[in-house]
Amino acid sequence: MNILVTGALGQIGSALVQHMRGIYGSNNIIASDLNSDGNQEVIHSGPFEKIDVTDGKKIAETVKSYNIDTVIHLASILSAVGEHKPNLAWDINMNGLFNVLEVARYNRCAVFVPSSIAAFGPQTPKDHTPQDTLQRPTTMYGVTKVSGEILCDYYYKKYKVDARGLRFPGLISHESQPGGGTTDYAVHIFYEALKNKGYNCYLREDTYMDMMYMPDAVDAIVKLMEANPERLIHRNAFNVTAMSFNPKQIANEIKKHIPEFEIQYEVDLIRQDIADSWPNSLDDSAAREQWDWSPKYDLASMTEDMLKHIRQKI
Ligand code: NAD
Ligand code: SER
Repeated sequence: MNILVTGALGQIGSALVQHMRGIYGSNNIIASDLNSDGNQEVIHSGPFEKIDVTDGKKIAETVKSYNIDTVIHLASILSAVGEHKPNLAWDINMNGLFNVLEVARYNRCAVFVPSSIAAFGPQTPKDHTPQDTLQRPTTMYGVTKVSGEILCDYYYKKYKVDARGLRFPGLISHESQPGGGTTDYAVHIFYEALKNKGYNCYLREDTYMDMMYMPDAVDAIVKLMEANPERLIHRNAFNVTAMSFNPKQIANEIKKHIPEFEIQYEVDLIRQDIADSWPNSLDDSAAREQWDWSPKYDLASMTEDMLKHIRQKI
């Protein structure tokens, strides 16, 4: 098994590459990113290639030279950056995905492509958002996510490309900083709590969103890619979640460990608007039924583990 990871120096890639190198062997996981100034542990613990995903030729050459059979496609522009740079978000998220799917089609590769809670919009049912429901996102990031889900379904149906994907909620991790999303506050709050005993939050205190701790997210990717294809009905867009909370609730959880911690609010209207258009909580029963999805971390255990790791780091 030889796996190419695009966007491997980002928030998910920094955790996933190391996790998969532990399972499948360091030399079998080829990390790649736009440039090499990110997570040095990923770059030096196994093969690394500079790949711009808008360059389909370079992806094809790398797939051939390493005899790649699976591409984990993480290169992307996230929601908040995407609202500031919608043209760039369209180019990287759509043309990058198209290139990866074309290379997969001609080289018989399986593909993992993450979608997001951003694939839903303000008209979607907000609570226990169903697996199959109305998707009319109002952000450029969301437009590319729902289009990506449909494009992956198309490549499976038309060309039998084994494409699979998850609608991830906000991911919380300590391996690297998040890359410009709306859920990033749920990572920044831990650093600020430990460094300054205070955090100025850009969302209102009552803004619910789904979240997941990174160990569950990387497990989910491996589990879905190893799942029996005959059981997969929603192969490119499984709702997955582990917890749903608002800024006030995560602040209260942190206060149990750091009693002096205080949260303040200074709302950023762009990110608030994005968050308000997304679900409060997802129904992930299809993932549980079709490939036995079951997260390990809740708000309390995630908070304890994050504080432990970030304390060691800083
Ligand atoms: P990130 O922003 O942390 O990392 C993305 C990586 O892509 C970066 O290392 C960046 O250098 C790279 N990149 C950007 N443009 C590129 C290009 N043209 N060619 C190659 N690489 C390029 O993102 P992430 O959080 O790791 O997210 C990875 C995927 O998971 C994305 O598709 C994202 O939409 C999805 N996702 C993430 C979250 C989350 O909370 N982190 C939630 C839902 C879905
Ligand atoms: N964490 C991501 C974002 O906020 C969700 O896809 O953009």
